[in-house]
Formats: sequence, C-alpha cells, structure tokens
Amino acid sequence: MVAVTEEAKLNLRKDYWAAKFPSQMPLNNLTGNDIYGSTQTLPHQPPVQYRIKFIKFVIKKLETSDDCSEELTEKWYETLEELSGAPVQQEPFYRLYAIAEMETPIKIYEDEKAFVSEGSTGFITWRASLELAKWISIDQLATMNGNCCWAFELGCGTGLLALAIMTKFPHLSKFFATDVHQGVLARCGQNISANQLSHKIDTSTLDWVQDEEKFSNMCQHAVDNFRQPGILLGADVIFDISVIPFLRRIIENFFSFEPLGRAYFSCAIRNQDTFDEFQRHIKESRLHIEILHNWGNEESNGVIFEVQKYLST
Ligand SMILES: C[S@@+](CC[C@H](N)C(=O)[O-])C[C@H]1O[C@@H](n2cnc3c(N)ncnc32)[C@H](O)[C@@H]1O
Repeated sequence: MVAVTEEAKLNLRKDYWAAKFPSQMPLNNLTGNDIYGSTQTLPHQPPVQYRIKFIKFVIKKLETSDDCSEELTEKWYETLEELSGAPVQQEPFYRLYAIAEMETPIKIYEDEKAFVSEGSTGFITWRASLELAKWISIDQLATMNGNCCWAFELGCGTGLLALAIMTKFPHLSKFFATDVHQGVLARCGQNISANQLSHKIDTSTLDWVQDEEKFSNMCQHAVDNFRQPGILLGADVIFDISVIPFLRRIIENFFSFEPLGRAYFSCAIRNQDTFDEFQRHIKESRLHIEILHNWGNEESNGVIFEVQKYLST
C-alpha cells in the first residue's frame, strides 16, 4: 500500500476547510483525521451539503481502489450516516483559508458560487486574491517586513487579501480596504471582525470612476501619518477594458504621493487583449510594469505584476 504523503494530506485539508473540491484525492489509508486534523472541533465547519458530497466522493474512490481496507471505508460510511440527518445550511457560510502555512486560518463568510450577487462580483473570494496573498506572504517577506508600513487595496471584495496580509505582517500600521459596493464592504467588515482585525483594517467606499479626489485625500492622509512608504494592491480588478483608464489614473495618483511606493496586482487573464491594453496604459504613464509570477493552469490562470515609478538618478 502506497502511503499518502504529508504534503498531499496538507493540500487536501486546505481544500476541505475552504470547502473546495480537491483536484487530486490521495486515497490510500486516508482517515478522517488526515482531513480534519487537530481542527475537528472548530466552530466553522464547511456546510453539511459540502461535507456529504465530499465524503461520498471519498467512499466512491475508496471502493474503486484495490488496496483500501474495508474497515476504513466502513468508518467513512459511519461519518456519512452521522451527517445525513443534519439540516441543510444556506449560503453564505464560512470558508477557512490557510494561506502560506499560517497557523490560524482566515475565516471568510462568503457566497458559495453566485458570481454576481446584488450587482457585484465582490461577495465571493476570487482566485486572484488567494494567489496574491500567498505570493506576498512567501516572496515579498523582505519588502513587507523592511520598508513598507501601510497598504491600500482597490476592489477588496470579501477582504481575504487584507486579512491575510495583516495576519502575516502584524507590524504594518494600517490597511485601507476599499470597494465601490456598500454591501460588499459590509461583508468585508464582518470578515474583519470575525478575524479580530478591526483595529488594523479600515474599510471605505471608493469608486475608481468617480472618486479620484477622495483617493488623493486618502493618500495624502496616509503619507502625512506614516513615515514609511505604502503599497497599492488589487486582485481581479482589471476585469473589463472600460475600467482601465480609471485604474490608470488611480495608479498614477498613488505614485504622485508615494514615488517610492510599490503596487502589486494579481490579474486573472480571461482576455489577453484586456491585459495588453492595461500594460499599454501603464507604459504610457511612464511607469514600469513587470510580471513577477504566473499562476494557475490551462482552465484558469493569471499573473502577478508590480508597478513602480522610474526614478531619475
Ligand atoms: C472580481 S471582484 C474581486 C474581488 C476581490 N479583490 C477578490 O479578488 O476576491 C472585483 C471587485 O471590484 C469591485 N469594483 C468593481 N468596479 C469598481 C469600481 N468602479 N470602483 C471600485 N471597486 C470596484 C467589485 O465590487 C468587486 O468587489
């Protein structure tokens, strides 16, 4: 019997707690404990309907595999039976995200799959956010620990990126999470409280199309109050060609206040022309854009890139 590796178990656990279906299911000898780990008693379990689907999937796989013990399959059947009578939960629900081996997972109350709800796409966490949170936590440790003390996010959605960064880098003085949609911001605020980070993360409405002056005032306030430079962040905000000129003005504005600042974006590439157009705008603004990381697979992919001001020597 081939042993299930620790890495495979860890990935499976992460998927389970975030209520996502795993792309790979390492089966041999897989026990409930491998998935629930020491967190079995956490108050925010994935919804019952997800758990039932998940366990049925495990059982099906076990039954078609040659080298799994009957005793193990029996145990999974018992868990399934225990869950079968439980009431069905409505969405939204809490997903638990373990980003870059953080000890405490981040709790995000979010919709399950409604991509557009109340006229906004901000009620679920998009992959671009997860990828940027992971990448910053692992690859930008030096930047974040060394010379940055505040962060500003455009189109924050559920707040996952803000929460991941403020959990990973507690020395940061303030995170400004902004979005155009009041309902999305209320959900984001709820997530911030659920993770006990209300003292570190401020939420505010900001529309890239209409609120240029408000953005300038917020940047001015941050520059006046914090001694070190800030960073500008955005995940899945370049979703349509029509928003590009407005995002460009916001980014230009940020660098006019913070010439030494950095901007990091994670962009899902659904249409290469949209991203090319964005790059063209940034270059026209005489800003430097550099792709630092590619994420995803053939079905869903994107890039993480940095924007900086060219500094004259
Ligand atoms: C695809 S979602 C991404 C949300 C989040 N960043 C994530 O990756 O999970 C796009 C977000 O941008 C916000 N948004 C759309 N248009 C905007 C605008 N003009 N100004 C500010 N935010 C906007 C939406 O409300 C939504 O939360």
